[in-house]
Amino acid sequence: MIDNNILRQLMRKVNKSFYVYDEEEILKSINILKDKFKEFEILYSVKTNPNKNILNLMSKNNIGADAASAEEVQMSSTANINKDNIIYSAPGKRRKDIEKSIDKCIITADSYNELSLLNEIGKDRNIHLEVGLRINANYNIFGGDPISSKYGVDEETLLENKNFIDSLSNIKIVGVHVHLQSQILDYEIIYNYYEYVLKLALFCKEEMNFNLKFINFGGGLGISYGDSYKNLDIDKLSTMSNKLIEIYKEKLNARFIIEIGRFLVCKSGTYVTPIIDIKESRGTKYLIVQNGYNGFFKPTISELILFYTNKKDNLKMMEPLFTSYDSYTISLIKRENEEENHKEVVTIGGNLCTAVDILAKDILIAKAEINDLIFINNAGSYAYSLTPLLFSSQEKPVEIYFISEYEYLID
Ligand SMILES: Cc1ncc(COP(=O)(O)O)c(C=O)c1O
Repeated sequence: MIDNNILRQLMRKVNKSFYVYDEEEILKSINILKDKFKEFEILYSVKTNPNKNILNLMSKNNIGADAASAEEVQMSSTANINKDNIIYSAPGKRRKDIEKSIDKCIITADSYNELSLLNEIGKDRNIHLEVGLRINANYNIFGGDPISSKYGVDEETLLENKNFIDSLSNIKIVGVHVHLQSQILDYEIIYNYYEYVLKLALFCKEEMNFNLKFINFGGGLGISYGDSYKNLDIDKLSTMSNKLIEIYKEKLNARFIIEIGRFLVCKSGTYVTPIIDIKESRGTKYLIVQNGYNGFFKPTISELILFYTNKKDNLKMMEPLFTSYDSYTISLIKRENEEENHKEVVTIGGNLCTAVDILAKDILIAKAEINDLIFINNAGSYAYSLTPLLFSSQEKPVEIYFISEYEYLID
């Protein structure tokens, strides 16, 4: 476990802002998923956190990769993830992205144009490609009308495109991929969605004549970010979903896949940045840290949303940029060991020349001195990978992959 002493020790070592990812935490999540979702294969959504040591850990534990770019395919391949366990799905793939990835993964087409492009590439190379197809299901997980989406092809257009699909001589659709929503905390919503995807897969097999080898249900497993969140009931969800797969297993005879991001890594990550300066302006006390939004972007987005809406609760998620105002906590550690019992209200800003570079406005925090450390939890997912690093050319945080107090890898 990473405690304050370890965070101090790591800061002494790197002497700059850092992310630290706790291997033990990630392993715990891997083991929960593997233990519970026995009927499913698990892919790790690389975009959540593409740290290479995390990818290596996934690979060693037989977790595949949900790659969202040719580069993520390459990174997954470098981590020794087998070709059959890397699925490349993203809108807007160019010919060169596909050509770079074709031997390293299974490609999921995101549009009818992309199916044509894959077919052309197959013809040019005189090969037959087995590909997946992302489908925008005719289903709204919250009830109501299905939504328009930039992802995949609309389910209701499949039949009218059957002749076109059948005419593609050099590709075969062997998989379907659906992903509608991240961060769902209601097990029944996820279960009902899985059931819908299975029915859709059956339709694809029976009506579209797809020779299905995999059904990818996408992500969605939510996590509790703090006290205001309930926990997703993983026990109920997995028990019911495993039973559901039992019913469809024989009819579909395919691999059943879920692709998971935050559940695997979010809690493992902590962001730490040192306080460089402390000052006051017209009644507000500012802590200036080494990296504000050029270290961890999401808190700044929360502050922006608060500024425009004046609301902290019941705000719509905008994943992955905004989950909720309280999807992390910001705390202070004294640089040396001593405890600090006095608290004060401060605003925490970074070193960028923009007034937007604020991590937290008017928060109550232990009384700070220069060189103390600000740390933020829940920083293992959509944290470093979402952060704009280039503005003002400031020094970037490093990433530390923590195995034990005596063994950690710094990137
Ligand atoms: C297609 C797809 N699959 C899986 C995920 C992972 O989602 P989560 O982090 O909620 O597990 C995402 C996240 O955006 C996604 O777009």
